[in-house]
Amino acid sequence: MSARFDEKTVLITGGAGTIAGATAQAFADRGATVVLAGRDADQLARAAAEIRADGGKVDWVTADVTDAYQVEAMVEEVVRRHGGLHVAFNNAGILGTPAPVGDLEDNDWHRVLDVNLTGVFLSMKHEIAHMRGNGGGVIVNMASNIGTHGRRPGLAAYAASKAAVSVLSQTAARDHIGEGIRINAVSPGATDTPMSFRPGETRADRDARMATANPIGRVGDPAEIAAAVVWLASPESSFVIGHDLVIDGGATA
Ligand SMILES: NC(=O)c1ccc[n+]([C@@H]2O[C@H](COP(=O)([O-])OP(=O)(O)OC[C@H]3O[C@@H](n4cnc5c(N)ncnc54)[C@H](OP(=O)(O)O)[C@@H]3O)[C@@H](O)[C@H]2O)c1
Repeated sequence: MSARFDEKTVLITGGAGTIAGATAQAFADRGATVVLAGRDADQLARAAAEIRADGGKVDWVTADVTDAYQVEAMVEEVVRRHGGLHVAFNNAGILGTPAPVGDLEDNDWHRVLDVNLTGVFLSMKHEIAHMRGNGGGVIVNMASNIGTHGRRPGLAAYAASKAAVSVLSQTAARDHIGEGIRINAVSPGATDTPMSFRPGETRADRDARMATANPIGRVGDPAEIAAAVVWLASPESSFVIGHDLVIDGGATA
């Protein structure tokens, strides 16, 4: 992919996470100024230092995506420091504690929905508020192949939240393309981050499970998710609107 992001500011929520790190690196490699947003200042500073050490332009800001005030302040701070916001990757998410629906704790249900769904809604709302009056922009939301595309026992809250992110992204895409804001989603399958391990699993266990569970025979590399996000954010996908791109090694094919 030849697209460059020079003079562009890219915001990534859940910015200290694993897929976020690979995506931030991919945008930084293409000239973007990347702003990592998350809850833990120390983790963000460490993640930013790794990208800076590779020569990338990177900044960070603390924000909990479930808090409307913090999300509004996050976008304002990005714009204040960097003069604009051109691309947003709303990536923050949690798995929750797996349990059958009959045993799912109310608090866990609400927490998963708050982070994964309301967090994406709040982030988009404030990103759009800036982009719509400032030349438009591009938003990519993090859904999952567990949701619209496939289900897994014990993950009802996660699946419901991610299916809703897919639909929210498609609806928002239609709402805002007329204002020059292009919105899509990505739906990865199991990717090599802590989230891909079942409780007590070693890396060898996880890899053996994926060797048979996934048609491609392995988990995804975070760089493979990053490449899709960068493409969706680039002019190379300019006619792609309201798409939910499954990247899962064939798991839900
Ligand atoms: N790995 C997979 O197999 C896979 C597959 C499909 C989709 N996904 C999705 O990909 C995204 C990234 O996951 P990952 O695998 O890279 O996991 P990760 O390394 O755990 O990253 C998730 C990030 O989200 C942050 N976060 C959680 N709650 C937050 C909140 N309220 N406000 C702001 N940030 C918050 C976490 O920060 P804290 O340290 O503060 O909690 C963490 O940095 C998630 O949305 C996940 O659902 C992952």
